[in-house]
Amino acid sequence: MKCLLAFFCALFLCVSQIFAVSARLPKAETDGSIAVFITGNELGALQPCGCSGGQLGGLDRRAAVFNAAAKSRRLIIDTGSLVDGDSEQDLIKFNILLQAFGFLDYDLVNLTKEDVGITRNLGLLNGADSLPAMISAYWPSDANLPAGFTRNFDVGAKKLSVTVTCLDAKSGNLEKLKGLFVLPRTLPTFNILIVNEFKQDVIDTIRQGGLVDCLVYPGDSDRPRLVSKPPERPVVVAGGKFGKYVARLKISPKSAGPDTSGSLFDKGQGITESIDSYDVKFSAVPVAEELPRDDSLIQLYRVYQQLIKEAGLLEKQPRFILPNELIYVGSNACKSCHEYEYSKWSTKIHAHAYATLERVGSQFDPECIVCHVVGAEYESGFVSESKSSENLRNVGCENCHGPGSEHVKTAGSTKTSEPKADCDLCHTPENSANYAGNERQYFEKIIHWREPNSPGDVQ
Ligand code: HEC
Ligand code: HEC
Ligand code: HEC
Ligand code: HEC
Repeated sequence: MKCLLAFFCALFLCVSQIFAVSARLPKAETDGSIAVFITGNELGALQPCGCSGGQLGGLDRRAAVFNAAAKSRRLIIDTGSLVDGDSEQDLIKFNILLQAFGFLDYDLVNLTKEDVGITRNLGLLNGADSLPAMISAYWPSDANLPAGFTRNFDVGAKKLSVTVTCLDAKSGNLEKLKGLFVLPRTLPTFNILIVNEFKQDVIDTIRQGGLVDCLVYPGDSDRPRLVSKPPERPVVVAGGKFGKYVARLKISPKSAGPDTSGSLFDKGQGITESIDSYDVKFSAVPVAEELPRDDSLIQLYRVYQQLIKEAGLLEKQPRFILPNELIYVGSNACKSCHEYEYSKWSTKIHAHAYATLERVGSQFDPECIVCHVVGAEYESGFVSESKSSENLRNVGCENCHGPGSEHVKTAGSTKTSEPKADCDLCHTPENSANYAGNERQYFEKIIHWREPNSPGDVQ
């Protein structure tokens, strides 16, 4: 843990200033629009497992989504919930995600209550400056840390200011809300509020107050969606999950001429210059497989794999004890009596499942190993490369036929135990998109047994 922290210390020379206005004002572009990219609820998903084609997501592909907008014309925000718990693996992921946000030029990360807990446990609450900046509605009261962030953009000859702040939905009263924004607005300002959950009364309050132009809360589905109906204000966005999509708000000056879409903005309290001449368009951009991958993020994932290895997580996994004192004996133990089945199995893909993980460098990752070796969750099952026999690697005989100790000891007179065709334990929709509907074809590809009663069967 110590070396892990040391490794990342450099990263966290700190946390940011209240309403830090970026010194470098982005330069204007002809189209005049700016893009606000919103991610969040990664819940530890750094990269899709790659088990099956067509998977969305991956930090290394996110860069391509952001790079569709020039640096000076975009604001990149993460709404928090970086990881799904506080295990050692989660903490490693948390650090990696923050570092990835740096590489990806995030402007801002909003930390949830759980994120703040982790940040605090990792000793990362003490600095004055961080990249990206961090805001939270849950900072400990003794830490003088920001709940808001502002960045100004040049839009043609005009300026547009984007402000992001956060609130615990339970404390969503109007007075508290007012306190979160700089008023009066001295520039046309697009105010974004991040809340931890959807609450109608918060939205009603926001509507009355006319303070907030966009409300973002964590949604339930992978895909972010626009909840409000244009031109309703505020624009309400339910964020996505697992980094499969990026929500994008395109804020652009309306073209001259009569406006049919209606204004998304009216003059809120204290606005000295109106921003009702801006249009806002929402889209959910898929982080698709075809997108180019960014080298520094590919490297960062390798660092992650290395940290997982060094932390020895496989050896620390909790393991169940098998019933009836059964133990896993490994595929080689079946060979002597089932030579035919063994040799057939060895030529099929299940016998290479571990090598497949090695090929992608994930053989030390507890999240991967479960479906690629024998009995990873049990005592006597696969533990790790150095601690376990090679015969427990791969999807072996006992993944499907159950732990074989009794069967072997009694030379076959005790039946093997498990249902043989529980394929969907591993061939889940996420890990094997083509499995459902093609069960027969999958089944045929693994045939390693003879027709019943064929000559040479073990008797
Ligand atoms: C010492 C010899 C021996 C070893 C080692 C052995 N088996 Fe068997 N196995 C047999 C015999 C004999 C039968 C036939 C028993 C019968 O038909 O009643 C059998 C039957 C089976 C069957 C079909 C019947 C059933 O129990 O479901 C499966 C499946 C099987 N073995 C799997 C395995 C696996 C997996 C291993 C390794 C963990 C293994 N065997 C190791 C001798 C052995
Ligand atoms: C313990 C987890 C696990 C179980 C149970 C399992 N599989 Fe697999 N299966 C895998 C893994 C992992 C791979 C990928 C191996 C690789 O590519 O190296 C795979 C690959 C396959 C493939 C190759 C797919 C392709 O694209 O060519 C087939 C076919 C297959 N399994 C069929 C089955 C069937 C049928 C069952 C049930 C009788 C089953 N599997 C049960 C984990 C499992
Ligand atoms: C729930 C079980 C499960 C888990 C967990 C799992 N895999 Fe797999 N993996 C599979 C199955 C099943 C296949 C075969 C899919 C198919 O061909 O339909 C597979 C195939 C693969 C392949 C081969 C893909 C190909 O195109 O040949 C790779 C690589 C892979 N997995 C990597 C990983 C990594 C990395 C992780 C962890 C991040 C992981 N797996 C976690 C079940 C799993
Ligand atoms: C992916 C799952 C899977 C793996 C891995 C696997 N088997 Fe099987 N095995 C099956 C299924 C499914 C059947 C067919 C059962 C049926 O038709 O009822 C079967 C059939 C058999 C049979 C014939 C059973 C009978 O009743 O006649 C034997 C023996 C056997 N397997 C042994 C092995 C051995 C030994 C290994 C490892 C070298 C192995 N199997 C690996 C799933 C698997």
